[in-house]
Amino acid sequence: MEEYKLPKPINHVAFIMDGNGRWAKKRGLPRTAGHLEGCKRIIDIFECMQEFNIKVFTLYAFSTENWNRPKSEITLLFKYLDDFFKKYIDKFIKDGVRVQHMGDMTPLPEKTKKTLIDAIERTKDNDKWVFNICLNYGSRQEITKATRLIAQDVKDGKLNIEDITPELFYKRLDSGNLPECDLLIRTSGEQRLSNFLLYQMAYTEFVFTPTYWPDFKREQFIECLKEYCSRDRRFGAIKE
Ligand code: IPE
Ligand code: IPE
Ligand code: MG
Repeated sequence: MEEYKLPKPINHVAFIMDGNGRWAKKRGLPRTAGHLEGCKRIIDIFECMQEFNIKVFTLYAFSTENWNRPKSEITLLFKYLDDFFKKYIDKFIKDGVRVQHMGDMTPLPEKTKKTLIDAIERTKDNDKWVFNICLNYGSRQEITKATRLIAQDVKDGKLNIEDITPELFYKRLDSGNLPECDLLIRTSGEQRLSNFLLYQMAYTEFVFTPTYWPDFKREQFIECLKEYCSRDRRFGAIKE
């Protein structure tokens, strides 16, 4: 196993786990076999984050648009996620991981919702790591929701229009309590955001890898981290 030490600290990495279906198809398996294998990579990659001392892990696991898939696929995917949280809740508690959710939980299958709420509740005081899962998440919906909250506060006289700043807006998003996202990794070769963190990614570095998510392991993750570390983040300034 390759020894790897991050040359500079990273706070927050977000992942668009993609390619589960194609991974399975390539093997002549049903798409859901890809989701099952993909769920195993979630914990593998989370543990790599712990190894490299990256505190915040954000995972895009189900978009608001993914309801357009066959019901049988959706049902199994949520079952695997339910199993995932049941399996790792003790680890999360032991390691000081806080489970957080982004998106609208309302339409999630009852069982998964219950497991997720339970995980959030039981880990709410943990502050060493964040496991942030985006389920039924859509960035446009999140931005719209934040706008409504702000508009309501203005209407109720709790907020002045002049006090609406980019920083205040950021705080009203589901990720308002998290540090800025340093790096986004999307697997499977697709190079788009698919309604993910549109506001938050103003200065995030993007790394796209052709590897399908079920094949995305420590070695592939290190390649992405090396790519990130080779980049020069200027934030609009110039470097002498
Ligand atoms: C998993 O990959 C991501 C989810 C939306 C759950 P996909 O299921 O999108 O896999 P591909 O893109 O069809 O290969
Ligand atoms: C994005 O992947 C959503 C998640 C990974 C949860 P998709 O596979 O749904 O995205 P598109 O349809 O290729 O843009
Ligand atoms: Mg996909």
